[in-house]
Amino acid sequence: MIRWPAEALWQAVSPLLPGFTVEILPEIDSTNTELVRRARSGVVEPTLLVAEQQTAGRGRLGRGWHSAAGDSLTFSLALPLAPADWSGLSLAVGASIAESLHPAVRLKWPNDLWLQDRKLAGILIETAGFAGDARPRQAVIGVGLNIAPRAAAGLSTPPACVRELLPEADAASVLQRVVPVLVQDVLSFQQAGFAPFHARFDARDLLRDRPVTLSDGTAGTAHGVSESGALLVHTAAGLQAIASSEVSVRPAGP
Ligand code: BTN
Repeated sequence: MIRWPAEALWQAVSPLLPGFTVEILPEIDSTNTELVRRARSGVVEPTLLVAEQQTAGRGRLGRGWHSAAGDSLTFSLALPLAPADWSGLSLAVGASIAESLHPAVRLKWPNDLWLQDRKLAGILIETAGFAGDARPRQAVIGVGLNIAPRAAAGLSTPPACVRELLPEADAASVLQRVVPVLVQDVLSFQQAGFAPFHARFDARDLLRDRPVTLSDGTAGTAHGVSESGALLVHTAAGLQAIASSEVSVRPAGP
């Protein structure tokens, strides 16, 4: 049985987010799906929802997110958020979590954490709005982190895990390590946008100066991110700023 630090997290976060609650569930379809459902039904209290097991975990671009209980950490943080500009939120979240984990963790635009050339964690950010009223949108920030090694079934690159960096880590200790800082960083993003995170992203940018291939087949060389967090790619057609989350990018070659 996992001993989750629910009380310690509540103590650390509730001064920053009044009304904050922590919920740990043995199983749910997806922590993101659940918090989006709640938002759509008008429940917008700031909530950290952790699931020991997800039966229908979701990744970006309609993909699934598969994880085994105990070997991974799956959680979502929901809170009302009203930044002047949402661009770059996923990069800011990635930078926050990477910094909380280890200097060796790199960021692969737009929202993956990688260790060397293997994926360590993924982030899925969704929002729910309330048409016709002035309430801020509810942001749902979902994070899936590999904690212990797992089989690479069906994956072209075997995933990395936190224990490669922190041998004593377990899902509970990693949750405690990342969440309070993440809340501070998300609130700071709300105030100041992506600008203060730009250099933090750059410092860990996995793709910078590397050949990349976009999902539409375009080849180029990654050249950092713009002021709004768009990926800058030198291509045969010139410098392109890729802002769309529908585009995926992979490093080309070794
Ligand atoms: C990706 O890499 O494509 C994003 C993966 C995000 C997975 C997390 S696990 C917790 C939360 N609930 C979900 O269904 N997805 C996110």
